[in-house]
Amino acid sequence: MALRIDGKMISAQIKDELKEKVAKLKEEGKTVTLAVIQVGNDPASTVYVGNKKKACAYIGIRSLAYELPEETKEEELLELIASLNKREDVHGILVQLPLPGHIREDQVIRAIDPKKDVDGFHPQSVGALSIGEKGFVSCTPAGIIQLLKRSGIAIEGKECVVVGRSNIVGKPMAMLLLRENGTVTVCHSRTRNLKEVCRRADILVAAIGKPKFFDHEYIKEGAVVIDVGIHRNENNKLCGDVDYDDVYPHVSAITPVPGGVGPMTIAMLMYNCVQAAEM
Ligand code: GUN
Repeated sequence: MALRIDGKMISAQIKDELKEKVAKLKEEGKTVTLAVIQVGNDPASTVYVGNKKKACAYIGIRSLAYELPEETKEEELLELIASLNKREDVHGILVQLPLPGHIREDQVIRAIDPKKDVDGFHPQSVGALSIGEKGFVSCTPAGIIQLLKRSGIAIEGKECVVVGRSNIVGKPMAMLLLRENGTVTVCHSRTRNLKEVCRRADILVAAIGKPKFFDHEYIKEGAVVIDVGIHRNENNKLCGDVDYDDVYPHVSAITPVPGGVGPMTIAMLMYNCVQAAEM
């Protein structure tokens, strides 16, 4: 039977470890603090931000919520970030994406002090990751490394295939797998023979953004499959980029959707906040 990698359980473990650390920091007089900024009221963003605040409350991290109206000017947002950068009692700053169209996301991300960039989106954080220096790592790929490690799955020397090249998942995922001494291939929409490339993978990271795209024809017998996708199917049920039931008999381990990669993203955000406060 293949291992069903339980992201809910592993993320709960991490959060409990962090809870102890946060309590110790509090004893030393330091209250770990995360500023969460949302502009507008995109319903999905509201859910994500709510979950982040809940996780903070559970761990004992103080969260400062800034809910700004849709019409907020880029300049005003940049001013808020500048003031949070200066505050010694604020350790992490998170601006929920996407932002309204009139605000330039790249400018906003660059405005965050890299020492407080708990999302790991700042070019300096991305650069540090690619040259193996210290810096914050994007939460979803960092969470995937934790899922593998805590499930006893070795990465060193393995053929790792990442499908998707986004700045938030695909690219940092490739860098992290490389850092763990995997042999890494990154695929994307222009990749020829995607099926053949995927079938080489000992570890396949599916982040293509299409529901149930990957069936057993993409999978080598005994591979480890990590599903980053999250979609609602025709019956309003959550599903991933991987056709779980079709693939399951062929894998050695696989993450479900929901309850796989998803819960790890927030756990790693909390991890980054604690790191920021410890620095
Ligand atoms: N929007 C969707 N995912 C994320 C994330 O991980 N961080 C931020 N800031 N915005 C997001």
